[in-house]
Amino acid sequence: MQIQTCSDIDRRERSDALVLGLFQSETPSNLGILEERCVAPIKAGDFEGTLGQIALVWGNEPQEKRIILVGLGKREELTLESIRKAYGAVAKTCLKCRAASINIVIPGSETFSEECIAKALLEGLLSASYSVKKEQVLEDVLLITNQPEHVQHAADRTLKVMRAVRRARDLINANADEVTPERLAEAAKELQQEFGRLKVQIKDKKWLEEDNWGLLLAVSRAASVEPRAIVVSYVGNPTSSDHTVLVGKGITYDTGGLKLKSSDGMLHMRSDMSGGAICLGVMQAISSLGLRINVSAVIPSCENAIGPDAYKLGDVYKARSGHTVEITNTDAEGRLILADALSYAVDVLEPSRIIDIGTLTGSIEAALGNELMGLFSNSDLLANELFASGQRTHERSWIMPLYEEYADQLLSDVADIKNANTAKAGSILCATFLKQFVGSVPWAHFDIASVAFTKEAKGYLPKLATGVGIRLLVDYLEHKEGS
Ligand code: BES
Ligand code: ZN
Ligand code: ZN
Repeated sequence: MQIQTCSDIDRRERSDALVLGLFQSETPSNLGILEERCVAPIKAGDFEGTLGQIALVWGNEPQEKRIILVGLGKREELTLESIRKAYGAVAKTCLKCRAASINIVIPGSETFSEECIAKALLEGLLSASYSVKKEQVLEDVLLITNQPEHVQHAADRTLKVMRAVRRARDLINANADEVTPERLAEAAKELQQEFGRLKVQIKDKKWLEEDNWGLLLAVSRAASVEPRAIVVSYVGNPTSSDHTVLVGKGITYDTGGLKLKSSDGMLHMRSDMSGGAICLGVMQAISSLGLRINVSAVIPSCENAIGPDAYKLGDVYKARSGHTVEITNTDAEGRLILADALSYAVDVLEPSRIIDIGTLTGSIEAALGNELMGLFSNSDLLANELFASGQRTHERSWIMPLYEEYADQLLSDVADIKNANTAKAGSILCATFLKQFVGSVPWAHFDIASVAFTKEAKGYLPKLATGVGIRLLVDYLEHKEGS
């Protein structure tokens, strides 16, 4: 896809559609010969300009086949999120009428700069134009703006981030038999080839055995595919020792193990590597943006399969950190593989902070519904900064408690800790488990089981993998670059 800018509506390219955003109860003006046509649906009472409302008007062929009027809601209520929603609706209209080239007039606002509007508009447009069946047709976008240089810059950056989002979605939506740990590692290698500034190390089973990743190896035991740990590094500021380490859950399929999931519960478990794919997406985005920061991602990856070799309930396994862990639930596998990756990050990568992300618990959905992700942290500063990035990008989280008392529920009679206690507060117990493996390093944990995946398209998020988390983390890292 190509995005260009132009400052004069009269010099716009021929296209399949001209897109005009209209505020509620306002009438379009300064549109020359198009004005009468655009006013017609308003006069007829067919179009009021409510948020995301769409009206199609015949265009002025051959200049454009059609005009897409999109409602922006009330002028005084405009937010960046309402812009994302409105242009998400435009993307869906483009998909329906197979528009491949569009000209968009950037709507004027007293509240937001044209750059900010262009960024939000493209986030909505490029998110909603993704389709798992690859029927995407949008190829050329021309932004008509009073500030072409600034807007082009914002558009180029947004396109880089949204490309990463779309690529992560492709990985998450692919068959579990295709995206195995080995293939996930290849996907990381492909990023290295495309984005030269990334260094990728693949740790195979033998290496994991030698480095004592006892929990990852336990979860992986019944699988016919071998586990991997993927380590991606990006050094954008060689003179600084500041280093953010991301850790992403890369379970390529979660059957639940011997605590087998129901068929319904298993149906979407190919997406249980969302955290890992999101980490790869963030690495792709920051390297293509060339941010002046240092970031690594560690992605422990395996399949939680069932079979005669499966790891067993009641057995005790030794973590890379040396902790012994009693397995009380083989379906609480994500925290096990993350624990080994966290201890590797702490011991080897000299992190200034660690942020882990993954589809950890169904309980987070029970607690927060599908609007928010859970955010847990041992650092108020880190939690607040990540929370703020969530608000800015509308990939929102809610800060959850991590009080000492919860740890009692993970005490084991036969080991240092047990991996689950299914009674109550499932997401908090998962975070409490992970906390044991980070020592005193500032750490945050995102439980994205509530938002990684959607059974039906929702606003500008397409059906299935959402890629939610990438924009948030990129925003956080962009602010780190500035701080
Ligand atoms: N991968 C699941 C979590 C999940 C559930 C992701 C629903 C997406 C949608 C995770 O491995 C899991 O099974 N967690 C258990 C934890 C429990 C056994 C303590 C759960 O949520 O039931
Ligand atoms: Zn599970
Ligand atoms: Zn899982």
